[in-house]
Amino acid sequence: MTSPLTIAIDGPAAAGKGTLAKRVADHYRLPYLDTGLLYRAVGRQIAAAGADPDDPDQAADYARALDLAHLDDPTLRGHEAGELASRVAVHAAVREALVAFQRGFAARAEGAVLDGRDIGTVICPQARVKIYVTASAEVRARRRTDELLSHGRDDVDYARILAEVKARDERDSGRAVAPLRPADDAHLLDTSELDIDAAFRAACEVVDRALAEPDRH
Ligand code: DC
Repeated sequence: MTSPLTIAIDGPAAAGKGTLAKRVADHYRLPYLDTGLLYRAVGRQIAAAGADPDDPDQAADYARALDLAHLDDPTLRGHEAGELASRVAVHAAVREALVAFQRGFAARAEGAVLDGRDIGTVICPQARVKIYVTASAEVRARRRTDELLSHGRDDVDYARILAEVKARDERDSGRAVAPLRPADDAHLLDTSELDIDAAFRAACEVVDRALAEPDRH
């Protein structure tokens, strides 16, 4: 019997993993979970309640009580929610509270695509396919700058965005629990020189190769 096709896509902020993961999920007709949204929702709910995102106990209470019904709120995708997410994500008890939901999603019989920071290392170490998507901090900051400009924002400053991207990398990679890092068996996909179509083709090659191999599990 073959195990479900679970695809873990990890990588740093603004590497384009969300867009890539969604396309991969559509292509293979798999359900998709953007796990960053869970941390974003916890961060937003804490901030809205006036609680302290840096307090592990308070943050964990909100993570345990997380209402998953509102993950499609578009404000969750904004910069402020991303910063709050990165702050609450350092707490072990917050991460623990979110594990069961993510593993349940990953264990669906039809397979699943999950993107995040620790999917291949902690959430689904058994995933049949692991892709670590990255790009230089400069390229990621440039893409984010261009995206904001294309939305008509006139307060966009590349140097500030680059500093933010680097600070986020440092927090996500430097934390003690489930730090951002590629799993030993992850395929590295550096998109610094690739557009989204080329990155998508490269990801599909990795998945197709894995599908052609005998199932390891
Ligand atoms: O992928 P994203 O930008 O939406 O993630 C926002 C923050 O959430 C990220 O900086 C760290 C945290 N996060 C995490 O720690 N683990 C995940 N699996 C997903 C996100």
